[in-house]
Amino acid sequence: MPYKILYFRKLASTNDKAKELLEKGRRNFAVAAEMQTKGRGRFGRRWYSSKEGLWFSIALKLKSADSLKYLTFVASIAVVRAVRKAAKINAMLKWPNDIYYNGKKLCGILTEGIFGKEDFAVVGIGLNVNQKKFPKEISNAAESLRIITNKNFDKKKFLKDILNEFEGLYPLYKNKNFNEIISKWKEYSDNIGKMAEVAAMQKVFCGHIEGIDEDCSLILRLSNGKTARILEGDLRIS
Ligand code: BTN
Repeated sequence: MPYKILYFRKLASTNDKAKELLEKGRRNFAVAAEMQTKGRGRFGRRWYSSKEGLWFSIALKLKSADSLKYLTFVASIAVVRAVRKAAKINAMLKWPNDIYYNGKKLCGILTEGIFGKEDFAVVGIGLNVNQKKFPKEISNAAESLRIITNKNFDKKKFLKDILNEFEGLYPLYKNKNFNEIISKWKEYSDNIGKMAEVAAMQKVFCGHIEGIDEDCSLILRLSNGKTARILEGDLRIS
């Protein structure tokens, strides 16, 4: 295992702890917490982080800071593989950073960069593992492995399995094999070919998903025949 795993009982956010430790000179580690008091998702959203879930961040020193989107894709592939193996379910990837099952979210990934004299990335992963239920506000959208399979999972083992998968895939990022990352990502996603609504930059686009571009953008064919390339947004499959 190339990453030393640092376990904490309670943290504000594992992403913040990973950044703090990187800045202090620590390298090659992952930070996990039983609970987070200020877990966050994309666009600064609150991320529900009770003690039944798996919340961790992988801290990486980057040689060249290529688009972090590829890192998010690498992490998504690692998680979906580990989930499929452990839970024996056909979990899928949803653009840009989700692992889902039956239309509900199992995992989200928040990759953040720190750029300066040296460049770093923190890949934050939140996987819903042993929750029996969720708060009302998110129960329509969130799913856990326990709810799907009726089984409890060993979170520490899960974390190691994900890190092993990640380690095997990380050279694709380091060696800039970005096309391969995208084609592997597509193997686990059924988004392409579906009708979708994408909320992006205060605008909502509706259309047919034609593909994923080489820079990880979503390619949408709109009803007026034009094509939109969307870099960031929330995707709803209709
Ligand atoms: C999203 O889907 O919006 C991304 C959610 C990412 C949540 C994880 S939990 C571990 C790490 N620490 C955080 O504060 N966020 C990420």
